[in-house]
Amino acid sequence: MGKEIAHPNTAEHHIQSIEVYFLAEGEKFPFQVARFELNTHGESTQGPNTSTVFSEPNVAVSFKTEKSGTIYVTSYCNIHGIWKNTKELKVE
Ligand SMILES: [Fe+2]
Repeated sequence: MGKEIAHPNTAEHHIQSIEVYFLAEGEKFPFQVARFELNTHGESTQGPNTSTVFSEPNVAVSFKTEKSGTIYVTSYCNIHGIWKNTKELKVE
């Protein structure tokens, strides 16, 4: 997430979740491979951005498959909504 320009990560503007799906060739529907909740964004009793603890929108997942297909990744920003990226997976 934010490969070229880092996405803001503040109490007011942050990524809340990331989901990974895989659609195997020849299948009609994708499977959800993983879902990550990013739950802390600097909030504390002292106010926004004061806890010094911020979930980072950098996650990794692994899975096995015998088929090629398409990996879909979505990330949800609390301001801008859903962002999507795809990558083809080739099994040889
Ligand atoms: Fe955003």
